Amino acid sequence: MRLTTTVNGTEVSVEIAADARLLDVLRESLGLLGTKEGCAAGECGACTVLVDGLAVNACLVPAAQVQGRGIRTVEGLARHGAHDALQRRFVASGAIQCGFCTPGMLMSATALLERNATPTRAQIAEAIAGNLCRCTGYEAIIDAIEAVAAQPRPGHAAD
Ligand code: FES
Ligand code: FES
Repeated sequence: MRLTTTVNGTEVSVEIAADARLLDVLRESLGLLGTKEGCAAGECGACTVLVDGLAVNACLVPAAQVQGRGIRTVEGLARHGAHDALQRRFVASGAIQCGFCTPGMLMSATALLERNATPTRAQIAEAIAGNLCRCTGYEAIIDAIEAVAAQPRPGHAAD
């Protein structure tokens, strides 16, 4: 079947298997390797992307379901070749160690800040509860998201 959708602001149209997962289309058809596959079972959050602004596990979403929808991946966070505020703060705060969880964490955090510009620490923890990190102990990640939330941001978390 043919899938036509918008990925990181660009319309794409690709031929896919009827049973392809969104994760397969992103990584294999479109070469967007930032989105990771960890558990393939909806448990680790490494594959988190945004579909019409909502954070979803791309390993669980049939690609056919995103026909005509708007997808954002970690590759779409940078603006004009520069990392966005969350990406910069993750680096500065030591919120990245091995980095495997980072793309999914960033997308969950982006979805949170777009729906709630001033989340509490508890709300941040809840927003990333589906994203597992084996390295950091989460505190540095929550610190980074909290620091970005505290910054004045005209209209968009990633500006
Ligand atoms: Fe999708 Fe783990 S790879 S939730
Ligand atoms: Fe290694 Fe999170 S930085 S899993």
